Amino acid sequence: MAFSNLILIDHPVIHTKLTELRDYTSDHRKFRDLLNEIASLMVYEVSRDWPTIPRPVQTPMERTTGRVLARQVTLVPILRAGLGMAEGVLRLLPDARLGHLGVYRDESTLEPVSYYQKLPPDISGTEVVLIDPMLATGGSATGAAQLLKQAGVQSLRFVCLVAAPEGIQMFHRHHPEVPIYTAAIDRQLNDRGYILPGLGDAGDRLFGT
Ligand code: PRP
Ligand code: URA
Repeated sequence: MAFSNLILIDHPVIHTKLTELRDYTSDHRKFRDLLNEIASLMVYEVSRDWPTIPRPVQTPMERTTGRVLARQVTLVPILRAGLGMAEGVLRLLPDARLGHLGVYRDESTLEPVSYYQKLPPDISGTEVVLIDPMLATGGSATGAAQLLKQAGVQSLRFVCLVAAPEGIQMFHRHHPEVPIYTAAIDRQLNDRGYILPGLGDAGDRLFGT
């Protein structure tokens, strides 16, 4: 199935780490390390076309002009599991600010429930990266993107590790202009809304709950 405005980050190092992440014997410590490592690797691709501006710099040899990111970056993890990617992204973008969106899926209806929201007041003019390892039905990410738009965000991209076709379709039905970056497109959801083959419950595996 072909999807528009979706960037599948197809890289041998990411495949290797994602395979370890899927492995049910990986404990929470290993899971946390791998999630952050993959998120770090994905940043390179996610930020590829961000605009830059010239900045003069004095090297030990002479004065020259380098280039730096034109806009501040705001990273927004969807709690809880998105937190597992934040440190990895910050390794490459240490000046990024963090907003937080608390959203969980009601396990019986699979509808997203929003319970917490704290965003930088001037988020609207920044490059915003919404992160969550799992895009399953798409309800959580779709709702989170809606909250960010209501906060005035104009430049938004969504980054996940594993996406189900159902979730991609739902997200893009509501936010066709927001690019999705993912490390894998999995086969389908099961009847409880879990991704197959997936990696199980990301929040529980990350936090050992
Ligand atoms: C997981 C995951 C996503 C959501 C994806 O969170 O981290 O936020 O499910 O599912 P969806 O696409 O069907 O909305 P969960 O609801 O388990 O909350 P938690 O991270 O706090 O455990
Ligand atoms: N949330 C998860 O953590 N895993 C899934 O497979 C689906 C939703």
